[in-house]
Amino acid sequence: MDSSLKERLKDRFEKVLEEGIFSGRLEVQNFENTVSKFLKSSYSISCANGTDALELALRALSIGLGDEVIVPALTWVSTAEAVVLVGAKPVFVDTDEQGLISEDWPNAMTPKTKAVIPVHLYGKMVDMEPLVQKASQSGIFVIEDAAQAFGAFQKGKAAGTWGDVGCLSFYPTKNLGALGEAGMCLTQNSALPEKIRLLLNHGQPVRDQHELVGRNSRIDSIQAAFLNVMLEDFEGNQTRRKAIAKYYLEEFSGISDLILPEGILAEDHNAHLFVVQTERRDELRRHLEKIGIGTAIHYPKILPEMKPFLTLEGDFSISERLSKKILSIPLNSHLNSDEVNTIIREIKSFFLP
Ligand SMILES: Cc1ncc(COP(=O)(O)O)c(C=O)c1O
Repeated sequence: MDSSLKERLKDRFEKVLEEGIFSGRLEVQNFENTVSKFLKSSYSISCANGTDALELALRALSIGLGDEVIVPALTWVSTAEAVVLVGAKPVFVDTDEQGLISEDWPNAMTPKTKAVIPVHLYGKMVDMEPLVQKASQSGIFVIEDAAQAFGAFQKGKAAGTWGDVGCLSFYPTKNLGALGEAGMCLTQNSALPEKIRLLLNHGQPVRDQHELVGRNSRIDSIQAAFLNVMLEDFEGNQTRRKAIAKYYLEEFSGISDLILPEGILAEDHNAHLFVVQTERRDELRRHLEKIGIGTAIHYPKILPEMKPFLTLEGDFSISERLSKKILSIPLNSHLNSDEVNTIIREIKSFFLP
C-alpha cells in the first residue's frame, strides 16, 4: 500500500472516530451515491459482503423452497451457497472456454426455474444482452454475480446493472477492496430496494417495527469510509492493472504452451485476474513458488464435484478441464516494474529454457 493512501485512510479513520458513528449514516450514504453515479445504477444498497448480497437478491425476488436457480459449474462457492441458503436448488451448467456460463444454459430450465446467475468470472462480463433477453422471454430473473467485475462496462452498462439484481463484493483482494468485508446489491427496479433494505436490517423500516424476518447484513460505516477513500484511486489503479495485463499479453504471446485470457483489455473486463491455461499448470506453479512468486487457482474443483453440491448428472466437461489447467498469475496495481519483469522472466524461462 503506498504511503499517500495509508495517510488518507488513517485520516478518514480518525474522522470516523471523532464523529463516533459506526453504523449507517453519512459515509454509507456517500458510498452508495458515489457507486450509483459511477456505475449509472438507479439503486445501490450496501451490505456486509458479497455472499450476503446474493442471498438478499434471491430473497428479495422471493426465491426459496422448491425453486431452481441456474448456476455455472465453475465459480466461487458463494454463488451456489446463497441458492442453498434460501432453500432453493442450484442447477449447474457448464461454462465456455473462458469460464463463463455456457450459451446453452437455457437447456437447463425446468418449470421450477426461477432465475439464472451469470458470473462475470475473473472480471470478464458474460454477453448480457442475449442472456437477459432469453431470461425475460422465459419469465425468469437474472441475478448477476458481479463480485469480481466492479467497474466493467458492456455497451455502456456496468456489470451488475443488467440483471434484476447485481451483486458486488468489496473483499480486500477485489479491484475495489475494503479493509475488511463489504458487499452491495444493485438494482434498476424501483420495486426492490425497499425489500432489500428491510431484509438486511431485521425487517425494520423504522426502529422496533418489524415487517418481515430479515437479518443483520449492514455494512460497517468504517468500511464504507475506507471504500470512499479507495474509490478516489480506483480509475488510476485500473489503468495500472490494464497496463500490466497488456505487458503480460505482449511478452507471453510467443509461448505456444500458454493460453492467454481473452478480452482482458476490453471495457467489459476489469482485469481482476490474469488467468492463463496450461497443461503444465502444477509444474509451473511449483516453479514460481520456489522463487517466491505466489499464484492461485480460481478454482481447482468445480462446484458439482464438491461435497455440499454433489451432482451426478450433467456434463461439465469444459469447466472440469479448465479447473485442471488454469493458473492466476499476480496482477494488481501495487506490483512494481521489477516485480512484473521478474514474473515475466521466470514464466518465459520455464517454457522457453
Ligand atoms: C464470484 C464470486 N461470488 C461471490 C463472492 C462473495 O463475496 P464475499 O467474499 O464478499 O462474500 C465472491 C468473492 O469472493 C466471488 O468471487
